[in-house]
Amino acid sequence: MTDAIRAEGLVKHFKGSTALAGVDLVAREGAVLGVLGPNGSGKTTTVRILATLLRPDGGRAEVGGFDVVRRPHEVRRLIGLTGQYAAVDADLSGTQNLTLIARLLGYSRGDARARAAELLERFGLTDAAERAAKTYSGGMRRRLDLAASLVGRPSLLYLDEPTTGLDPHSRNELWDVVRELVGDGVTVLLTTQYLEEADQLADDIIVLDHGKVISRGTPDELKERAGAQVLQVRPADPARLDRAAAVVEAVTRSEVRSADGGASASVTDPAVMPEVVRRLDEEGIAVAELTLRRPSLDEVFLAITGRPADDAPADGTEAAPERTHA
Ligand SMILES: Nc1ncnc2c1ncn2[C@@H]1O[C@H](COP(=O)(O)OP(=O)(O)O)[C@@H](O)[C@H]1O
Ligand SMILES: [Mg+2]
Repeated sequence: MTDAIRAEGLVKHFKGSTALAGVDLVAREGAVLGVLGPNGSGKTTTVRILATLLRPDGGRAEVGGFDVVRRPHEVRRLIGLTGQYAAVDADLSGTQNLTLIARLLGYSRGDARARAAELLERFGLTDAAERAAKTYSGGMRRRLDLAASLVGRPSLLYLDEPTTGLDPHSRNELWDVVRELVGDGVTVLLTTQYLEEADQLADDIIVLDHGKVISRGTPDELKERAGAQVLQVRPADPARLDRAAAVVEAVTRSEVRSADGGASASVTDPAVMPEVVRRLDEEGIAVAELTLRRPSLDEVFLAITGRPADDAPADGTEAAPERTHA
């Protein structure tokens, strides 16, 4: 398989601070590369460099075989970019937004309207086509934004935190759209802070932290690399959670996390299972769930970095809304 994107040693400094400290990545053609990392880890900076919107201070990158610094026009012709914030004109209708973009891309008036209608239909926005975008829900806005980035039929799509701030239903809808696009052969570069999202969509993942790739692999490989399995106990009576957690801690001798009515801890030796069962029984704790499972990506991130993925301080310096068209 060919590489759609290949970057080596990308470095970017902003006024003394280092946003990227040597990022290598490869996106295989027709696959989804997930760039996973907390706020401020360098995701948007990476995307902006690969979209030719920002020059790297070091390293090099090729998109579709074109160098992003020396051949920006060729690169832009290949890509669609959807920023973290919806970038459509809120006062224009869905049809007007998409038609405008199509006209800018050189479509005739008739072709532009046809392309707009086709995309609105595909994204379930036909009923809202003639309404101003400002009347759309967050999920609808995000779908319109995605539609806008697809007007020029890009073979590569950059999605920078496409579901941040969306409710679970809208998030699922957007995931379906992304899967459909991948089914059509589009290569996707997806940044996300949500480990579940990377797990759901990505074929390959790089984990960024402080501008460095701290881990890479398929979702399964990342989970395997974290090594340990996770023992999870959920008492039938939620009031017994503290006791159940104490049992798990005593047996596994590792840190116990309590969430959603369950207590979980990493275990390297599956033989602790019978001991947990015995102690729970001694304490008369009936269980609704007792499982030994592979870690979630959240737990993987915790294992790699020593802190939860959502624990990084937000720095409020997100890039402005952005989008390029073919
Ligand atoms: N235009 C800029 N000026 C100064 N610092 C920036 C700029 N853009 C990003 N940064 C800094 O670079 C780092 C990486 O930012 P960014 O790539 O936006 O991270 P992410 O998208 O993962 O949240 C952060 O520390 C951020 O403050
Ligand atoms: Mg960002």
